[in-house]
Formats: sequence, structure tokens, C-alpha cells
Amino acid sequence: MVKFTGIGFPVFYLVRSLILLCLVENVLSGFTSSFIRSEWPSTDIPLDSAEFAVPEGYDPPQQVHITQGDYDGKAVIVSWVTMIEPGSTEVLYGKSNKYDLSAHGTITNYTYYKYTSGYIHRCILSGLEYNTKYYYKIGTESSAREFWFVTPPELGADASYTFGIIGDLGQTYNSLSTLDHYMSTKGQTVLFVGDLSYADRYQDNDGNRWDSWGRFIEKSVAYQPWIWSAGNHDIEYRSDLGEFSTFKAYLHRYTTPHIASKSSSPLWYAVRRASAHIIVLSSFSPFVKYTPQWLWLRNELKQVDREKTPWLIVIMHSPLYNSNSAHYMEGESMRAAFESWFVQFKIDLIFAGHVHAYERSYRVSNINYNITVGNCYPVPDKSAPVYITVGDGGNQEGLASRFLEPQPEYSAYREASYGHAVLELKNRTHAFYHWIRNDDGKSVPTDQVVFHNQYWASSPRRRLKKNQPNRQISLVATY
Ligand SMILES: *[C@@H]1O[C@H](CO)[C@@H](O)[C@H](O)[C@H]1NC(C)=O
Ligand SMILES: *[C@@H]1O[C@H](CO)[C@@H](O)[C@H](O)[C@H]1NC(C)=O
Ligand SMILES: *[C@@H]1O[C@H](CO)[C@@H](O)[C@H](O)[C@H]1NC(C)=O
Ligand SMILES: [Fe+2]
Repeated sequence: MVKFTGIGFPVFYLVRSLILLCLVENVLSGFTSSFIRSEWPSTDIPLDSAEFAVPEGYDPPQQVHITQGDYDGKAVIVSWVTMIEPGSTEVLYGKSNKYDLSAHGTITNYTYYKYTSGYIHRCILSGLEYNTKYYYKIGTESSAREFWFVTPPELGADASYTFGIIGDLGQTYNSLSTLDHYMSTKGQTVLFVGDLSYADRYQDNDGNRWDSWGRFIEKSVAYQPWIWSAGNHDIEYRSDLGEFSTFKAYLHRYTTPHIASKSSSPLWYAVRRASAHIIVLSSFSPFVKYTPQWLWLRNELKQVDREKTPWLIVIMHSPLYNSNSAHYMEGESMRAAFESWFVQFKIDLIFAGHVHAYERSYRVSNINYNITVGNCYPVPDKSAPVYITVGDGGNQEGLASRFLEPQPEYSAYREASYGHAVLELKNRTHAFYHWIRNDDGKSVPTDQVVFHNQYWASSPRRRLKKNQPNRQISLVATY
């Protein structure tokens, strides 16, 4: 059921209206949506609901999920859980459901206070062909389960690709609405901006709510990769329970391909997919100068090849620009550490979650801040990224509805509703973006923008030289 695709409208009308929107927004100051709807109760779906049903058969594979398994999109990590016995670690796969290939994985498990996890399987399928549909099968006999996924196109400047962006999802009826709306878009991969299950809201951080969440999202993530980043609800440091390690459930359950990008931690890493270079940062791991994350990011930014992957995207949990009273200024420390790099390397977009609302900034920076000479207000900066907060997946904590007034000049659009975003990378110069509000169960595209690539679209000479010299380049508003 396709409720909104973004290209379902006549293309001319869409492009024209988006350009007008950009022009208008460049002139006016920000917009605070007055949209208010009666909030659905922010309560978690009961454990015995259909959304969390365990598949049929004896000890079936459950909580099946995939993520990118290498740097460039030719590998997939398949993960699942069996509750009673370890079972088979084998994944059968192939280009048809005859499954002529197979791979063996590994099993891990963990305890968290009184909770003992099931057997968590992970298996890497590598050497895949680009742009190909693969079928895969896990489990045995009557408990066997079959899924499929499509590999991304080969890396390339004009490789079109559509990402969904979801954050702070949890497992309420609002979360379900967000998930269903996302699944009705053309999204091919999710960039998840942290705070997954909210199991930490339960007594002793009940691990059963990690299991139910894994079953909840399976209908999407078994068929397309979600690129993970961790949030504060994933830390689960509980010294009172003797749980001194951090991100224990998250790290056991949601593997990331960090070694492929030479990262020393699964919490920060990078992947390249189609025309995008995606950098995942950890807001709740050390990132100041000289720390591993800082050193890694400094090196990773040098690996970026905008000729091959023009779209440079960063995801993290805590937003660096946020005018909501919730989590106000919590991103300041990372802004101080990394903002000058974000401007220097002309990052296109930075997505964050944490604040349970939606907000999009203009291209601004505050890199001239200097503690000796005093305050510096963020200023328009064409080299700066656009900051987008989508912490509005719909978890049980409810919406963050108190925006600070007046709306700061850096803030372009803000609204306290649940929803998610979709980013369609069209080619090296253009990306269509929209945020989709959950409007009492309906999916309503709300904030729509055309983004022009910070590398390919910022220099007309580069475009003329390298990109079809005899075609006239229209000088539409750049944003
Ligand atoms: C993991 O599973 C094995 C085999 O059932 C069991 O012996 C071990 O205690 C489990 N480990 C943890 C940390 O629960
Ligand atoms: C901060 O301002 C002081 C005083 O104007 C100046 O000497 C210093 O170089 C500035 N620092 C930076 C990093 O720009
Ligand atoms: C890139 O995509 C945009 C939007 O679809 C289109 O207007 C533009 O002509 C495309 N550029 C090239 C070089 O194909
Ligand atoms: Fe958060």
C-alpha cells in the first residue's frame, strides 16, 4: 500500500513546488508548525500482541535482521535469535530460492542481571553482486524461515538510492504507525539514529523487551538493512544491578561492520552505499581530541571520495542544533569537537534523534566561537551541513512539545509530531527529502526540500567540467 512515494506526483509540479519552497524558506525565517493532534497514548504494545508474535515451529529463528556487512555494500550480516537451543548457524542463500550458496555464522549470548538472552546468531554473506535480489533461509525443517534482500547498486556518483531515517522508535502504537508508514515508502535502507527498544524503561531493564522489539521490526529489517547507531537508552549502565559495562544488549544484538572502516569500536564506523558515504558516530562514547573516536573520524573524513560517493551523511544520537527545551545543548560538546570538520569537509546532512520531535536547520555554523572574545551566534554558512532531528519515532516517553521561543534563526522548520524522514538521492547533484508526519494513523508528507550536493552542486565550474559540459545548468536556489 503506497500512501506517498515522493515521485508519485507529476514530477514537474513537485520539483517546481519544492524549488519555490526553498526560495521562500531562504527569505523568511524559520517555521514552527502549529499542527497539534490528539496524541495516542504513549504506551508500549502488550507483549502478547500480534506485533510481537513468535513464529511457528519448534524454536524458530526469530528477531531476524540484516545490516551492511562491509565498507562498500557487497556483504550483508544476517542475525537472528533462537530461544531454546543454539540450533544451526547456517544461512542458505542464492539468487533464487534454490539456495545454491551457504555460510556458517557464530553464536553469542549474554546475561543482564536476572535476564539470560537467547542464542544470538550472526552470519556474514560476502562477495555478493551489486543490484541483485538474494533469497536466504535460516533454521531447519518445520522451523525454517525464508527472506530476501536486494543489494545496492555499485558505488557511483549518480547511483540513485532511497534512505529512510528513523529514531527513538520504541515499541508503542505510535512506533507501529511510524514503522508502517516507513514501509509504505520506497525506502531501501534505514539510517537509525539511536534509542532502539527502550527496554531500559522496564524494571531491571527487562531483556524481554529487547526480544519483543526484535520481533516488532523484523517485517522491515529482515528484508533491508538498517544502519545502526546507539542512543542513551541503549547504554544500560546499571551499577545498582552490577551491570557495569555499557551498551551490553545493543552490542550483542546489533552487529555493525566497524572493522571494515578500521574502527576500533562497533559504536562508530562508516559504510558506503550507492552514492552515499555514511558516517556513524557515538554521542555517548568519548569523542574529544585524542580519543579513539576522534582519531578515527579524522582519518575517515580523509577517505571520503566525493567523486565516487558525493553524498556525505553523518548520523548520531544527540543533535548539535536543537531549539527544543528537551535535551537543550546536550550536543554542544560534540559540536565543539567536530563542527569545524563538518564544515571543512562539506558534509551534506547530519541526522540525529534524541529529541522526540522534528526539526530541520538552515546551513549554519558556529565555528568562529572563541571563548576569549566571547559569544558567537551561529551564522549562515554555505559549507555547513543541514542538521535534521528525527527523534520522533514514537517511543513510550511521548513527544517533546516545548520549543524555545522565539525560534532561533538557524531553525528552518520544527514540529512536535511523530514521524520519520525519507531521503531520495537522485544523482550527484540532487536529493529529494521529505519528513512524514504520523497524522492520527495517516501518513502525511510535511516538510519537503530539495538538497543540492555540497560537492557537486556548490561549484558550477565542477559541474560544467565534469558533468555534461553542453547541458545548461539551471541556477535554482541552492540549499
Ligand atoms: C551461553 O550459552 C551456553 C550454552 O547453553 C551456557 O552454558 C552459557 O552459560 C551461556 N552464557 C551466558 C553468558 O549466559
Ligand atoms: C580567539 O580570540 C583571541 C583574541 O582575539 C585570538 O588571539 C585567538 O587567536 C582566537 N583563537 C582562535 C582559535 O581563533
Ligand atoms: C539530477 O536529478 C535532478 C532531479 O531529478 C534533475 O533535475 C537533474 O537534471 C539531474 N541531473 C542530471 C545530470 O541528470
Ligand atoms: Fe535519546
